[in-house]
Amino acid sequence: MSFPTQRPRRLRRTETLRSMVRETTLSPKDFVLPLFVLHGKQIRNPVASMPGVFQLSVDEAIKEAKLAYTHGVPSVILFGLPEHKDAIGSSGWDDKGPVAVAVRALKEAVPELCVMTDVCMCEYTDHGHCGKLVQSRGQTVVDNDATLELLAREALCHAEAGADVVAPSDMMDGRVAKLRKTLDDAGHSEVALLSYAAKYASGFYGPFREAAGSTPQQGDRRGYQMDPGNAREALREVQLDVAEGADMIMVKPALSYLDIIGRVRAEVNVPVVAYNVSGEYAMVKAAGQNGWLDEQRVMLEVLTSIKRAGADIILTYHAIEAARALGY
Ligand code: PBG
Repeated sequence: MSFPTQRPRRLRRTETLRSMVRETTLSPKDFVLPLFVLHGKQIRNPVASMPGVFQLSVDEAIKEAKLAYTHGVPSVILFGLPEHKDAIGSSGWDDKGPVAVAVRALKEAVPELCVMTDVCMCEYTDHGHCGKLVQSRGQTVVDNDATLELLAREALCHAEAGADVVAPSDMMDGRVAKLRKTLDDAGHSEVALLSYAAKYASGFYGPFREAAGSTPQQGDRRGYQMDPGNAREALREVQLDVAEGADMIMVKPALSYLDIIGRVRAEVNVPVVAYNVSGEYAMVKAAGQNGWLDEQRVMLEVLTSIKRAGADIILTYHAIEAARALGY
C-alpha cells in the first residue's frame, strides 16, 4: 500500500468530480440588487467610485430590475435620493417620493419581483445622520425614540406603496418592535421585516455615501452603528431583533465580518442576509480596472465566501454580472 492512504486530491482530479463534491454553490436566487432611485426621466448618473452603478430615474430603475429578473435575480432593494432634505428627513415618508413611486412602478412592471426598501433617515436629512438630532450632555446625538416615530412613518409609506420587505438600517434600539407594530396596526401584517441587525460603523460605506449623498455633515455614526471590534454584541443585537419580530436579519459589511456571519448563522434560525457593501465592490472594480486582479474570478470568490460563511441571501451590486458569470 502506497503512502498516504488519504488522498483528498482524488476528488479534485476533474471538474465533474469537483462540482459533485462542491459544498457551496452560488445561484442568482441568492442575490438582491441595490438600486438608487431619483425623480425624473431617462436619468442614469454614474457613481464614480462604483463603476457599473448608477443613480436611476424610476423608468431606468424598472429597466435595471427587469434585466436583473431576466437573469434570475429575484429581488431589488431601493434607496431614495430625494429632491428636498430637512432636519427630520420628511421626504422619507413622502408618498410621491422616489422610493414610493418606484415601488409602485416596479410591482406593476414585474409583479413577481420581491421589492425591498431601505428604511433610514440619512438620505433624507440635511445633516446626513440616520435620525433626529438633539443636544445631550454637550454632544449632538441622534435621539433614539424620536427617530423611531420617523422610521415608522417611512416604513408605512413604503408598505402602502406595496413593498414586500422593509429593511431598517438606522441601528436605533427598538425599531423592529416599533415597525412591526406600526405595520400590523395599519393592516400590513404580511409585509416582512429585514433588520440590519449587526451593522458596523465601517469605512467600507464610503462609495455608497457618494451614491446616496448621505455623508454626515458633522461627526460620524459610531454613536449608533457597531464597533468593529465587537462580535458578542452582534449576537445580542441579532437576538433582540429576532425577539422583536424580525423575519430576517442582516450582517453588514460582509467581507471583513465573515466570522460574524458564521456566528450569527449558528445562533438564529431566521434567514441570514449579508450586505456585500459599496467599498467591497469598489475594491474589486478598482483592482480589476488596473489589471491587478482577475475581476470576475475574484467577484465570484467573494460571493462564494459570503455564502459559505452562512449567508442565505446576499445584497450585492455585482448581482447582474455575477448571475451572467454563472451562466444565467
Ligand atoms: C443607510 C445605509 C448605508 C448603507 C446602507 N444603508 C450607509 C451608512 O450607514 O452610512 C451602506 C451600503 C453600502 O455601503 O453599500 N444608513
